[in-house]
Order: sequence, then structure tokens, then C-alpha cells
Amino acid sequence: MNTNKCFTLITGASEGLGKALAIECAKRNMNLLLVALPGPELNSITNLIQCNYPVTVIAMGKDLCRNESCLELYNEVIALDLEINMLINNAGIGSTGLFAEGCPSIFEQQIKLNVLATTMLTRLFLKKLQCNQHSYILNVGSMASFFYLPKKQVYGATKSFIYFFSRTLRKELKKSNVHVSVLCPGGMNTNIGLTMMNKAGSYIGRLSVMNPEDVVPVALDGLLKGKEVIIPGKLNNFFMLLDKVLPAAIKKLIGSQGMKKLNHTHSLSRYTSPAMIPVVVPTSSG
Ligand SMILES: NC(=O)c1ccc[n+]([C@@H]2O[C@H](COP(=O)([O-])OP(=O)(O)OC[C@H]3O[C@@H](n4cnc5c(N)ncnc54)[C@H](OP(=O)(O)O)[C@@H]3O)[C@@H](O)[C@H]2O)c1
Repeated sequence: MNTNKCFTLITGASEGLGKALAIECAKRNMNLLLVALPGPELNSITNLIQCNYPVTVIAMGKDLCRNESCLELYNEVIALDLEINMLINNAGIGSTGLFAEGCPSIFEQQIKLNVLATTMLTRLFLKKLQCNQHSYILNVGSMASFFYLPKKQVYGATKSFIYFFSRTLRKELKKSNVHVSVLCPGGMNTNIGLTMMNKAGSYIGRLSVMNPEDVVPVALDGLLKGKEVIIPGKLNNFFMLLDKVLPAAIKKLIGSQGMKKLNHTHSLSRYTSPAMIPVVVPTSSG
């Protein structure tokens, strides 16, 4: 068992990117407080790490869409007297579809989980993070943070919030011991639905898709080095460059073609992949 008393809190740690982050942190000898919806997936990742790595793992099943959950989680951490030196706000849900056809309750959940829970957990845990010599906050945004993606209006907006929130908070905390980074991945094969959707994407879209296991070392290295915005993958960085240099009229044209393509393939799904980005190469929000 390691002698480190600090814990890394990861939300959405039972699946996908959060699970990969938890395993990578365990490999780096970091104790873990894993949060996800209560259920067998959370137990299974907890057992897997406990059996394979010499770190302490605590699991807390919480529905972070519930208003009271963040405060409950915080109070449980206080009651256990845990020191938290890294907060990874990863839990998030996405969707694809026309706004007019979208399910209001999905939009509500998305905003509650992607925006509200991230904001509340950051606010609640900030004082605890400030108690350590060095602490870190990693907020998970998306390539969708930067673009006006058709049929991802609410998801994209929540991820833009994460991007601007993180960068502003970083400025506020510049002279403190708390380092804030925002991770903006493109499409990832994090679950079966997304993997299938990614396989059906455009050629360039498929090339840009990454496995979460390849994203997490980049994310953690970037965070520990104090990088402000972490964009994993050469192709995703190339898309960002392209967005800066392409004239607005060309981006608009490509964007409207992408929209037509999506109209043919439309079906409302709970999740959507930013691997669609190269299909639409939309105009930047910035
Ligand atoms: N996948 C991509 O292509 C992609 C690209 C860019 C950014 N992102 C971002 O990366 C993050 C992780 O995405 P992912 O693809 O890994 O997602 P995922 O595979 O669907 O996993 C989501 C995780 O969040 C948990 N979760 C869902 N609803 C929750 C709730 N109400 N309360 C607490 N935990 C909840 C899930 O727990 P259960 O297992 O119990 O449901 C699961 O552990 C998200 O913020 C997403 O927006 C994803």
C-alpha cells in the first residue's frame, strides 16, 4: 500500500474515459475516490483496481443529476476525513438530434450533469484542494467546445461552458496552488454505441477517433505539466489549426454540407460522437 494520503476524485469513473482515467491514475500510484451511478460497473472497476494496484480505492455511487448529490458527496468526504488533491470532472452525457425533436428531460439531465455538477463539485471541493501544496482540477470538455455542431446544440453548449469556466477559473487561481486544465478530446470509442457510430463516420472522422486508453496518459501528463487546454491526438490538433486558417465562407460551406449529410442519417440518440467534427468542420465559436 502506498503512503500517500491524498485521493483523486473522478466522476463518471465506472465506464469509458472515466474508467480509463481511474486505471491510469492507479498505475501512477494515486489513491482513488470513484464516483458514478450506483451499480455493478462501479463495483467492478473498484474491485479490478483494488486487486491489481497497491492503492486505496473508495467507491461512492451517486446520481450527480440530483441536486443534492454533490453536497452529499462532499459531506461524505468530510466525514471520512479524506484529503483530495485532484478533482477530475469527467461525468457527462451527450445526445444527437434536432433541438425541436429533442427530449426535454435529456436536455435537463445533460445540463445538470455536464454543467451544474461540475460547477458545484468544483466550488465545494476548492477549499479542500487549496489545503495541499499542489492540487489539480481537470474538467472534461470536448472538441465540441469549440464548434457550432449541427444537432449537438445543447451538448456543444455544455462543453463550451466547461471550456470557458475552466479557463476563467484557471486565471482566478493563477497565483494559488490549484492548477486547472480543460481536456478537449475528439471522438473516442468509449462505449459500444459510440464505437458503432464512430465506425459509420466519415473517413477522416474515423482516422481521428481515439481509444480512451490512448487519451488518458496525454490528459494526465498535460494536467501535471500545467497545460491549460489539452487536445489529444495529432489530427484533432490539425483540425484546430485548420479552423484558425480557413476562411469563414469555406467553413460555412463545409458546415452546411455536413448538416445535409446528418439530415440523411438522423436519429436521436443519447450519445453522439465528436468524431463527426471533421464531417462538418463548422465555424468556430471563438
Ligand atoms: N466519448 C466521446 O467520444 C467523447 C468525446 C469528447 C468528450 N467526451 C466527454 O468525456 C466524458 C466521458 O464520456 P464517455 O464517453 O466516457 O461516457 P460514458 O462511456 O457514457 O461514461 C459516462 C460515465 O458517467 C457516469 N454517469 C452517467 N450519468 C451519471 C450521473 N447522473 N451521475 C453520476 N455518474 C454518471 C456513467 O456511470 P454509469 O456507468 O453508472 O452509467 C459512466 O461512468 C464526458 O464528459 C463526455 O462528454 C466524450
